[in-house]
Amino acid sequence: MLNYEELMSKAKEAYNNSYAPYSKFCVGAALITDDGSLYTGCNIENASYGATNCAERTAIFKAVSEGHRKISVIAVAAKDGSTAYPCGMCLQVMNEFMKDGRILLEEKGQLISYALSELLPHGFDL
Ligand code: THU
Repeated sequence: MLNYEELMSKAKEAYNNSYAPYSKFCVGAALITDDGSLYTGCNIENASYGATNCAERTAIFKAVSEGHRKISVIAVAAKDGSTAYPCGMCLQVMNEFMKDGRILLEEKGQLISYALSELLPHGFDL
């Protein structure tokens, strides 16, 4: 099982596959499922900008499409070293599959772990 620092390293490896010719903002994500599986993802942009997929959703959709519906923790990293706070759409997807999960980000070189409820206090549920 990877520790938080190792998971963040996986997120940083993942941004090397980022396809971001429009924004040039390369993002990577790495997550662990409740049964210990690792999935990574990167942002994948499109000439029709709205078709872009964020790194977090790439990783989450990879996990869910392989049968994993419970995610424990996801690390997110931006190649330029800025803090990659997940966008609202990714937070809503996290609300579906990792309501009690943790989100790891780097702030000024320091690893910070957030509860999803801190970043999305009122997620939408049906
Ligand atoms: N992006 C992510 O992949 N994750 C985030 O947390 C924030 C934004 C991507 C989407 C787009 O390819 C680029 O960053 C600029 O918005």
